[in-house]
Amino acid sequence: MEIRRIGVVGAGTMGNGIAHVFARSGYEVILCDVERWFLDRALETISKNLEREVAKNKITLNDKAAALNRIKPVLQREELRNCDFVVEAATEKFDIKAEIFRDLDRICRPDVTLASNTSSISITRLAALTKRPEKVIGMHFFNPVPVMKLVEVIRGLATSQETFAAVRELALKLEKTPVEVNDAPGFVSNRVLMPLLNEAMYAVMENVATPEAVDEVFKLGMAHPMGPLTLADFIGLDVCLDIMRVLQDGFGDPKYRPCPLLIKMVDAGWLGRKTGRGFYKY
Ligand code: 3HC
Repeated sequence: MEIRRIGVVGAGTMGNGIAHVFARSGYEVILCDVERWFLDRALETISKNLEREVAKNKITLNDKAAALNRIKPVLQREELRNCDFVVEAATEKFDIKAEIFRDLDRICRPDVTLASNTSSISITRLAALTKRPEKVIGMHFFNPVPVMKLVEVIRGLATSQETFAAVRELALKLEKTPVEVNDAPGFVSNRVLMPLLNEAMYAVMENVATPEAVDEVFKLGMAHPMGPLTLADFIGLDVCLDIMRVLQDGFGDPKYRPCPLLIKMVDAGWLGRKTGRGFYKY
């Protein structure tokens, strides 16, 4: 079956980036979220990010207009019924994703693959909620989606080779590089990245160094484009905490204990760049 129409559930940072790259590659996109305001904000962000690509001569003004035209914002999940492929990019909470997967399984044709952009939750568990576990897979994009080349493609226990091959192909069509990973908490990316960010937070909490100093160490000493605390603010401290909790629950190893300073900042609503305050002020 040819994949032409893509459903994207969730219009936040990742959802709008995913809609952006599919539309830029010529796919029709149905972008679904629960509030008009989220959809308006997503389309504004996509337009602004496409404009950056026009400014850099990567695409033309016509390409930008055509890509925007290919994205249809919708509030009702039922409108995803004619999609050929769906990517879920909702909040990183199991219960929220579980409800969406059950609903998508009811709404979408049985031949349609349901992918999750989850950054750490078990694909095997999400798949088991559906009647098509062989057609459920992880398709993990990285922020900013239009720029980062990687797509971590995660096989659940029941994911078929056919589904894996189709998603790999799709990632290549988006000009991304797919990397195959098996299902385990945090996969590879966040199993390794999040403990690094968490440890950087401990260094700040224990007054080993300021956030600026920790970030300088990683920028100048390890050639990271962003230091770990700038990156944590960029990802969202609530997302970092959710992922640490998935690692802690999934492995049951105390080395994944979320930093108390991270918990306190999330409690305060200091979620990083998106709320104007995290380890830095924006
Ligand atoms: N859309 C389109 N293009 C964008 C963009 C966006 N949202 N953001 C940046 N760009 C483009 C710029 O136009 C620029 O293009 P050019 O190379 O042709 O000039 C290029 O990206 C670099 O941007 P800038 O010059 O503005 O800024 P920087 O050089 O500082 O790069 C950055 C910005 C790409 C964000 C860089 O700092 C970076 O790579 N940071 C690390 C990001 C990272 O680690 N992401 C992964 C997070 S983890 C994750 O997502 C997984 C999740 O599960 C937690």
